[in-house]
Amino acid sequence: MSDFDHLICVAKQSRENAHAAYSNFRVGAALRAISGRIFGGCNVENATYGLTVCAERVAIFKAISEGERGFDAIAVVTDSDSLTPPCGACRQLIWEFCGDVPVVLSNLKGKSEVHQMRELFPKPFDASNI
Ligand code: THU
Repeated sequence: MSDFDHLICVAKQSRENAHAAYSNFRVGAALRAISGRIFGGCNVENATYGLTVCAERVAIFKAISEGERGFDAIAVVTDSDSLTPPCGACRQLIWEFCGDVPVVLSNLKGKSEVHQMRELFPKPFDASNI
């Protein structure tokens, strides 16, 4: 069993709660804090489309609002053959709060890949630029 199996499992469960009424593309995420706590998230769509929030950001905001700081992995699960990487906005947020963590992409068929954030987000704008 890989270190990430449980994280993938939580992301899969969170995906069940997705509110994807417009795209029908259901996404689950799970963020692991250094404390060991895991925070799930799902995409929450909105009739304006633009107010939609991705699963990854829901998981991050849940964790931050619960007082967690410091994370060591995030998983993203969808039902697509080609695994789903985080969108640009989510990469910015993952970088800000998690840094160079492994990003575990997985689907319902059990395919998975791990990418480092550095590779997904090579030249970030962050606090060091201000
Ligand atoms: N989505 C996520 O939740 N995470 C991603 O990494 C990619 C996209 C959502 C947003 C929207 O609800 C749906 O997938 C289609 O873009």
